[in-house]
Amino acid sequence: MTPKIELHLHLEGAAPPAFIRGLAAEKHIDISGIFDAQGHYSYTDFWHFLKVYEAATSVLTSPEDYARLTTAVLEESAASGVIYTEAFLSPDFCGGRDVAAWRDYLAAIREAAARVEAQGGPILRAIVTPIRHFGPDKAREAALCAAETAGEFVVGLGLAGDEKTGTPKDYAYSFDMAREAGLHLTCHAGEWGGPESVRDALHDLRVERIGHGVRAIEDLALVDELAEAGVVLECCPGSNVALGLYPDWRRHPIGKLYDRGVKVTVSTDDPPFFHTTMTREFDRLAEALDWDDGVFHTLNRTAAEAAFCDEGTRKRLIERLGS
Ligand code: ADE
Ligand code: ZN
Repeated sequence: MTPKIELHLHLEGAAPPAFIRGLAAEKHIDISGIFDAQGHYSYTDFWHFLKVYEAATSVLTSPEDYARLTTAVLEESAASGVIYTEAFLSPDFCGGRDVAAWRDYLAAIREAAARVEAQGGPILRAIVTPIRHFGPDKAREAALCAAETAGEFVVGLGLAGDEKTGTPKDYAYSFDMAREAGLHLTCHAGEWGGPESVRDALHDLRVERIGHGVRAIEDLALVDELAEAGVVLECCPGSNVALGLYPDWRRHPIGKLYDRGVKVTVSTDDPPFFHTTMTREFDRLAEALDWDDGVFHTLNRTAAEAAFCDEGTRKRLIERLGS
């Protein structure tokens, strides 16, 4: 199986529905309304998806729950040949942005990840991710959690949630704090916002990577700016198609961005929500764009070079990808 590197995965968004149902049953929490008759997550559009996501996450209430989640998610990733994952973790969900509680969640997640890695599973690194629609004040508290725990495991700060809430500038304080703590930076943009949202994230937050970023294609001057600056896009085509941003895989802009010299990578975002896996993403792209192994090797190599991990880990990843 092709080894794969994934840079954009929301840990709660990767929770298998059966896992969430099991926890809900253990805790006598009724979240039956978020599933369809087949037991899959059910939502009508992106904004409803965010609500369903938060309802599913409400059953994860302890470090132990997150340890179990981490194991379940990484085992799924391993089945797709993933060798390295960067997961978005939110102090909002892990201890209510309290630094001491956050440390406990982080320790549990890290320990579970180390166990999976020791058994040959993927290496995990964390990107702390405030939720944009919770507002800039809560983002600062989450960024403080990130700054306090920056190191080998916590390697970055991101920003997820409703892109229509405020502007990137509103979150600049949080990103400045994270940069000063030595963290790498990424931000969701150019998914539900247009090209200007990508420009704003680049210029106002000085991020190295953009989560999604695909709507940059609507402004070719911006596409060229991204290519020239070597900004890496964390593309999640299956997510974009499932949420209706593009009608089908052929009309997804990842191919055009790649052809114009932008550094693109491929991830699943929230795999069970979008009925996807890393293997499926690669297979659908091969079908839709006629991409061969050489292109996928380039994508993996780009991901390894853009990973927020330490240089020793990067070297090991590049060796495992082969040439
Ligand atoms: N949180 C989880 N998935 C997300 C996405 N695709 N965009 C923004 N926030 C998210
Ligand atoms: Zn995302």
